[in-house]
Amino acid sequence: MVMAKIGPFEENAGKYDGWFAENRFAYESELQAVGMLLPRPGTGVEIGVGTGRFAGRLGIRLGVEPSKSMRTIARDRGIAVVGGTAEALPFRDGRFDYAVMVTVLCFFDDPDAALREAYRVLKLSGSLVVAFIDRASPLGKEYDARKADSVYFRPATFYSAGEVAGLLKRAGFRTLDFRQTIFGEPGAMAGMDPVREGSGEGCFAVVRADK
Ligand SMILES: C[S@@+](CC[C@H](N)C(=O)[O-])C[C@H]1O[C@@H](n2cnc3c(N)ncnc32)[C@H](O)[C@@H]1O
Repeated sequence: MVMAKIGPFEENAGKYDGWFAENRFAYESELQAVGMLLPRPGTGVEIGVGTGRFAGRLGIRLGVEPSKSMRTIARDRGIAVVGGTAEALPFRDGRFDYAVMVTVLCFFDDPDAALREAYRVLKLSGSLVVAFIDRASPLGKEYDARKADSVYFRPATFYSAGEVAGLLKRAGFRTLDFRQTIFGEPGAMAGMDPVREGSGEGCFAVVRADK
């Protein structure tokens, strides 16, 4: 059985959610990067929806989330949230036009199983959008080196964009399209960062993978 890494989120859901208000330029930059790769319209789901900061603003009405306290905040934002993990999604095959994962891949116990599950619940023409901290970016390297000091990221396994591409291809996805943003410390941003094509420079990387 999968033991989801939810402890820090379960205990500090409100504080986690507050990060987005305190770092609003980073939040807006991240939203813009994910939004650019999101297929619209269609029926979507956010896997590991957390407090719904992304689903709420991106118009995604359904999420899956193993932490009860995170789910409660997401529901207050008007998102329908089902309890469960990415590795065993509580949905039938071929239900969604798209699925989204934002900063959750690094917490999965079994990323291969999670990506296979996302593939399974997508329609034949469906897409998966994965946003992640790129371990190969300058800031990603710092986060990786300092993760033992972080309440949330201590149990995380960060991946490079190349590694994420490999995981997606192994799960059956094709046509990978990368974007990146957050090129300096989120707390020091005086405005939004641009969203650029490719990967390796921005700490917040996003890839769209088609089924
Ligand atoms: C850093 S938060 C991201 C939440 C949200 N996607 C966001 O970007 O604000 C990571 C989330 O992943 C969830 N999580 C941990 N393990 C998981 C798993 N195996 N399947 C699904 N979600 C998981 C945690 O409970 C937490 O809400």
